Amino acid sequence: MAVGSLLILPGDGIGPEVMDEVCRIIEWFEKKLDVEFEKKFDDVGGAAYDKYGTPLSDETLRIANEVDAILLGAVGGPKYDNLEFSLKPERGLLKLRKELDLYSNLRPAQCFDALSDYSSLKPNIVSGLDIMIVRELSSGSYFGEPRGIEKSKTGERYAVNTTYYSESEIERVAISAFEIASKRSKKVCSMEKANVMEVGVLWREVVQKIRDRDYPEIELSHMYADAGAMQLVRWPKQFDVIVTDNLFGDLLSDCAAMLTGSLGMLPSASLGNKNANGKLKAMYEPVHGSAPDICGKGLANPIACILSFSMALKYTFDLKKEAELLDKSVERVLSKGIRTADLLQKENQKPSSTKEVCDEILNELNIQL
Ligand code: IPM
Ligand code: MG
Repeated sequence: MAVGSLLILPGDGIGPEVMDEVCRIIEWFEKKLDVEFEKKFDDVGGAAYDKYGTPLSDETLRIANEVDAILLGAVGGPKYDNLEFSLKPERGLLKLRKELDLYSNLRPAQCFDALSDYSSLKPNIVSGLDIMIVRELSSGSYFGEPRGIEKSKTGERYAVNTTYYSESEIERVAISAFEIASKRSKKVCSMEKANVMEVGVLWREVVQKIRDRDYPEIELSHMYADAGAMQLVRWPKQFDVIVTDNLFGDLLSDCAAMLTGSLGMLPSASLGNKNANGKLKAMYEPVHGSAPDICGKGLANPIACILSFSMALKYTFDLKKEAELLDKSVERVLSKGIRTADLLQKENQKPSSTKEVCDEILNELNIQL
């Protein structure tokens, strides 16, 4: 049965390595279950710059607009450090987010039982942790105008970025967070800096207004983002859904990732409005970056990217059982003690390679089926 189309953009650094493993998982689903994906492959980031002279070609963007979901590996690397700003690999990723208007970025931070003593925090603080960060992704400091590096009258250079949010931009991400919370424990904490930024004042007001008007059953709290960061490492289990802006969400989600043991574990889904065939525009990518230091060594953890595919099964293709099967298989592999190097902490323990971890997940999928 054809379930939909996928654009696969492995990108740079460890992106292609982890995406290779995701492709083996996709093949498994196609072979063993009644599903079939129409797959297209292309480049983004530095890989696209090398091939097309731009980090995101118009043709790639056209295809991205047509498919049901995009799977992206990672972008960036030292090779591209000296490129002009508009040609840098990250611009490709940011253009995809902006052009597809992917405003709601879901970053679940879940601590698998087998990893509760791998976090930098004490096991009792992270065991059973399951929070969802909803990061606004298409506005804020990442895209606000004016921006740039200029020269003042005295000849001194200065740089400007603008944090911009309209009411409707805040409203739609708040709605997204409340909808998610409705299916979880009905608790949302909104984070901003209303004590120093007008954007924070408006953010707080609009989020509260949407809650009072349409989601009275949701328990909503507000926190300044700096206090939120502190609370996230002090007692993360006080949170369920956190909604925050683009820049704070970038920082808080890296922090939350580390609570779960490694940045190599965290998937994400970026969702927008409905497209022509009634599905939400969507891109799935691991929260980790391109990790150039370990690229090509078989050391990368493929789990964040594999779990991102699982989110695609759930959120785009409505294949919840299949997503659960995949999540369960990952969990079982971890509980067997199989880990890539990012998760190793005991001396003399030999890490599994990227491919070996995926072999084990495939093995578990076969057992669980
Ligand atoms: C992320 C990444 C990106 C971001 C980079 C690669 C542009 O850190 O998805 O969190 O800053 O949003
Ligand atoms: Mg980040």
